[in-house]
Amino acid sequence: MITASNLSLDRGAKNLISSSSFTIHPNHKVGLVGANGCGKSSLFAALLGELQPDMGDLSMPSSWVIATVRQDTPALEQSALDYVMDGDKEFRQLEQKLEQARNDDNGNLEATIINQIDAIHGYSLPARAGELLHGLGFLQHQLVNAVKDFSGGWRMRLNLAQALISRADLLLLDEPTNHLDLDAVIWLQRWLKRFDGTLVLISHDRDFLDDVIEQILHIEHQQAKLYSGNYSAFERQRAEHLAQQDAQYQKQQKEVAHLTSFVDRFRAKASKAKQAQSRLKRLQKLPDLAPAHVDSQFTFSFEKPESLPYPLLSLKESNCGYSQDAIILNQVALTLVPGSRIGLLGRNGAGKSTLIKSLAGELALMAGERYCAQDLKIGYFSQHQLEQLHMKSSAIDHIIRAKSDTTILQARSFLGRFGFSGDQALDPVGNMSGGEKARLVLALIVLEKPQLLLLDEPTNHLDLEMRQALVFALQDFEGAIILIAHDRFLLESCVDEFYLVANGKVSDFSGDIDDYQQWLNEEKKLTLKSTKTNTETTVDKKQQRREQAELRKKAAPLRKQADKFEKEIQKWQTELESVEKVLGDSDIYQAEHKVRLTELLKQQATLKAKIEESEMQWLDIEEQIEEVMSQ
Ligand SMILES: Nc1ncnc2c1ncn2[C@@H]1O[C@H](COP(=O)(O)OP(=O)(O)OP(=O)(O)O)[C@@H](O)[C@H]1O
Ligand SMILES: [Mg+2]
Repeated sequence: MITASNLSLDRGAKNLISSSSFTIHPNHKVGLVGANGCGKSSLFAALLGELQPDMGDLSMPSSWVIATVRQDTPALEQSALDYVMDGDKEFRQLEQKLEQARNDDNGNLEATIINQIDAIHGYSLPARAGELLHGLGFLQHQLVNAVKDFSGGWRMRLNLAQALISRADLLLLDEPTNHLDLDAVIWLQRWLKRFDGTLVLISHDRDFLDDVIEQILHIEHQQAKLYSGNYSAFERQRAEHLAQQDAQYQKQQKEVAHLTSFVDRFRAKASKAKQAQSRLKRLQKLPDLAPAHVDSQFTFSFEKPESLPYPLLSLKESNCGYSQDAIILNQVALTLVPGSRIGLLGRNGAGKSTLIKSLAGELALMAGERYCAQDLKIGYFSQHQLEQLHMKSSAIDHIIRAKSDTTILQARSFLGRFGFSGDQALDPVGNMSGGEKARLVLALIVLEKPQLLLLDEPTNHLDLEMRQALVFALQDFEGAIILIAHDRFLLESCVDEFYLVANGKVSDFSGDIDDYQQWLNEEKKLTLKSTKTNTETTVDKKQQRREQAELRKKAAPLRKQADKFEKEIQKWQTELESVEKVLGDSDIYQAEHKVRLTELLKQQATLKAKIEESEMQWLDIEEQIEEVMSQ
């Protein structure tokens, strides 16, 4: 288990965590949350031994193997599959020893090592690595490609796969969904649910956390505090706690006011001086209750653009890509007018970012025409912008560099609107947390008064409060927006129409995100089928039917199990419905029905848990059936 006792952590002059104690038990799944810059990544650094506690203790069993996602993305010649397999360090060591034993002609040792490799399921490692890569969106033929041939984002996925395959006791994931698309996020969610080691997961994605974790470690006001339950449960507990704290604080404030006025009135009067003294003492002894305060609500807005020409930007019969031999999108036609709010859907690698770069004019068209209104100001947000910040300069330097007529005072007050208070605006950007950098890039965009926003995953790194603020700001924006995001909430609240980028084309998508998920599933089935038919064309029909029958026979026991679960789930659903019907009746909340109410609530919880458990198992079996049938 991980034990923090009286732990204090500092970064430079800044105190991040002070005298906090918590225990994380083995095999627990914990979500680590808190505002940008509160010290989540720093706590990971401490767990990894890269940052020493200033006081107190942070310990875990010395035998524990820890896995994290590498942050560097080296351009290696090694194949993707091989690179991912490196994640299982023990296997690689045994492999080396085996080679040595073979060179030394040491048969006994060779046999022992082979047994050891078998014990850690080493021989199924390539298959498992392949499966992980599939889940993360890699295609079969890409597994043998060299690491160096993948883009930065895809290399981050390889790093993630390396961490997932490691069989570690403790898995530390710092915002793992940042480089994933919706499809891969859903896959990772399911994978983590089944992971059976200890997991500490930093994420700002409420849906993702709710699904995966069972406990929340929250950092606020330099305190790290553990809550049981998922993220929603944590929010409820915290709200209650805050309400209580507020009530106590209000009471104390009353007492302080009363004591102070007594002291003030009677201090000068000799007859009461003694009492005044003792009241003063009591005043000084009052415990230091902080006002219950949820971090200041944070808002910002985009300024009204100076002009809004019509149209703002358009692409006509455009081919987008990197050279005539590497055209990614054909015959794109797209017109952006003030008020256009477009969400781009499509798998990673389908060409969404290529389209955005072409719109921004960063990438020259391979054919066709780009019309751009005169002096069009584009606010372009992508991961790349974060990397382009000057690490040694401060936030203020960045503002002044962008608008040289800004005074330091103006820059300070502007940055204040983005949560950079006082000296923070003077700190070098290199010391900032991921969310702080993202916030600075947003501030720089707002400063430009853009007419068009091109946003490529803008919520990566942003904490919940800032996400909410961004949603509000985008909703009020009067120019045009193109948005790529895996954050459903953001898409659903800021976008009016969707375009689908797939198979080299950009087309109107008439559905919503649920329809898109459906589309993804069907697409997956189609690829499965087409790879199958490719190999099957030479096999004769009779043989095919025989094989199908054979597969169905093989899958029959699984089918039976799945049917059993289905029936069970159906039965519980009906029971749950009738329980919930009674709970929907206001009569049951009368005092005299208290016992029955408790009983019903318990039943409801049990049924829900049973249904969820069975659904998971049912899904598993369905997946196995699909696997058998696609052999
Ligand atoms: N090497 C450093 N030197 C000085 N200050 C640092 C250093 N690294 C981080 N900090 C500061 O410590 C604070 C905590 O940073 P940390 O990266 O732990 O935050 P975080 O909780 O992970 O935030 P986010 O949600 O944005 O990722 C930040 O204010 C950051 O500016
Ligand atoms: Mg961080």
